[in-house]
Amino acid sequence: MDVVERAAALRDYAEQTASCTKCALSQGRTQVVFGSGSPDADLMFVGEAPGFHEDQQGVPFVGQAGKLLDKLLGGIGLTRADVMVVNVLKCRPPGNRDPLPEEIAACEPHLFRQIELIEPKLVATLGNFATKLLSGRPAGITRVHGQEQEVTLGARTVHLFPLYHPAAALYTPSMLKVLEEDFARIPALLERASGETTAALEAAAPVFEPEPESVQLGLF
Ligand code: URA
Repeated sequence: MDVVERAAALRDYAEQTASCTKCALSQGRTQVVFGSGSPDADLMFVGEAPGFHEDQQGVPFVGQAGKLLDKLLGGIGLTRADVMVVNVLKCRPPGNRDPLPEEIAACEPHLFRQIELIEPKLVATLGNFATKLLSGRPAGITRVHGQEQEVTLGARTVHLFPLYHPAAALYTPSMLKVLEEDFARIPALLERASGETTAALEAAAPVFEPEPESVQLGLF
């Protein structure tokens, strides 16, 4: 899929998801928080669930944790427009409680479809819920943060990079330091993952079409 097709497919999927009633969270939400950023992003962040402000504004990570995420991104020379940010749950759990297993099960097809459409080179999971869901393993974030791993999701191999959740790091300086150190490794991991993808593509299809010179990217 080229960039324009990818953006259109993602927009269609966001429209379908806006009326989702697969779990009870649909009854209490202001709106579905689909995700935001570039449909063509190489780097995708997966958080937990929308909070109060995200539910109000329809955009993930707009509160205090989002400000920290923006700052961490700035530290590696990126902005929110360079990446895609989504959550495990697309609707706010009441009182910001933890996601329930049945809510995660109902919502996971949305996340898997987003990954399929965006085809990120690196997926950074923020906190326990995203890490456990996408790694398919029970090991918690304290044990696995900073340990990149390859996982197979459907027909695709995805590079996962588990990180502490910014909300957890906000008020714990030792955790923030670790999150900053892990974050600083992202550019090198991205470069490596991009190199592997290029090598795999070259092996599969040695003839390339030139990229269009400029393509309008829709921001979600
Ligand atoms: N925390 C999350 O996990 N996601 C958000 O969108 C906001 C805070």
